[in-house]
Amino acid sequence: MKTTVTCLAMSLFLALSASGAEEKAKDWTSMGSATVQARGANSPAEALYVEKCGMCHRQMGMGTVILARRVDPTRAMLEQRNDLTAEYIRIAVRTGLGNMPRVSRGEVTDEQLAAIVSHLVKPVKP
Ligand code: HEC
Repeated sequence: MKTTVTCLAMSLFLALSASGAEEKAKDWTSMGSATVQARGANSPAEALYVEKCGMCHRQMGMGTVILARRVDPTRAMLEQRNDLTAEYIRIAVRTGLGNMPRVSRGEVTDEQLAAIVSHLVKPVKP
């Protein structure tokens, strides 16, 4: 009897983890996001940034980690900077930059990029 219960629990667990894996494949940042990365957003533009750039440019992202080495660590998070121009961001996104792969219009439309740029180009947040 005890074995049956354990088996049921095991298969339930496996079924749950399988569906979880599918979720993660779609958006790997959901993996432990609550503890690793802030995914909250206060505006549609910020939500877009989180969706398209946040996995690399928020906490623990590959972009943040690499930029912490290349520029000053206090300027590693793009959202905390005030030295980025719209033109620079657009070029970095469309052509790629160093270890950052280029992002095509299929992934982020010009309209979406404009919103993301408007989210990044503004005075430093407190
Ligand atoms: C796959 C991960 C990844 C994604 C997605 C990504 N980036 Fe990057 N980004 C990087 C990395 C890595 C660097 C650092 C490149 C280097 O210095 O070699 C970088 C650098 C940059 C820089 C240059 C910063 C500087 O000081 O020179 C800008 C601007 C930038 N990214 C904007 C964006 C925006 C906007 C998006 C979303 C549309 C985005 N990135 C999506 C990985 C990414």
